[in-house]
Amino acid sequence: MENTIINPFLAARRRQASSASPAHDGRPVYARLPLAPITASPVPHLTSLFHFDSVEDYGSRKYPGNCGGKLIRDLLLYFQPQNVFDPMTGSGTCADVCRELGIPCLSKDIRDGFDATDPDSFRNLPTGQTFDFIWAHPPYFRQKLYSDHPRDLSRAPTLYAFLEPYGAFIRNCASVLSPGGKFAILMGDYSDREAGFVSLTYHTKQLAFAAGLRQSCTDIIRFSHGASSSRKVYRSSFIPGLHDVCMVFEKTP
Ligand SMILES: C[S@@+](CC[C@H](N)C(=O)[O-])C[C@H]1O[C@@H](n2cnc3c(N)ncnc32)[C@H](O)[C@@H]1O
Repeated sequence: MENTIINPFLAARRRQASSASPAHDGRPVYARLPLAPITASPVPHLTSLFHFDSVEDYGSRKYPGNCGGKLIRDLLLYFQPQNVFDPMTGSGTCADVCRELGIPCLSKDIRDGFDATDPDSFRNLPTGQTFDFIWAHPPYFRQKLYSDHPRDLSRAPTLYAFLEPYGAFIRNCASVLSPGGKFAILMGDYSDREAGFVSLTYHTKQLAFAAGLRQSCTDIIRFSHGASSSRKVYRSSFIPGLHDVCMVFEKTP
């Protein structure tokens, strides 16, 4: 019955809605961002909305999951740490940014045999070594596969098998944070037919809070420019996620 009612106002709005959807010819779609207040921040352009789509020289764009270094650079300029640890370094994006800024950085990855989910890996770091800033860009569950190592988080067969070592990883990092140190995690939500929609950002916060950390500042919503999924055509209907989230935690005093 509902379909047979002709409501000219609704019909006009539906036409408007469909014509407002972004063109799929590769042209950018512009949105007006809210005005940011003036603050004493040393990085005034860093707000809760992060967008940067130019080519950068950090890490390797060819590495699956490469995150670009501009956000890391802004965070380092904002928090001004004396040293940095990246326990899931991938193509070394964070290390490249640190080199440019002259900040000592320890870079590790499962591909070099460093399992960040294992407390023993952290016990083998130089004795008493703590970090002012930890940058972590873990796998988004099984969205992309990274290595053949059985302890690679992207190889976890189930959500539980991912969350359990992911929680251990967050606890391990918390254990080497210096007092007042910051722990930034870049994470995206995940979805597939078997697992459904998995809010990995929610799980990240829950695990970080359980590890005794508290959130240090606003979530930073990073626009996912250039994601391979944006060029795909799907037969199913869903609301595309066009961002991931950077959450910065700190140790409670
Ligand atoms: C999203 S990628 C990081 C990409 C990096 N930010 C870049 O720009 O190149 C995630 C990384 O986590 C690593 N990884 C997965 N499980 C790990 C584990 N248990 N311990 C240490 N590294 C792990 C993978 O090898 C992969 O390089």
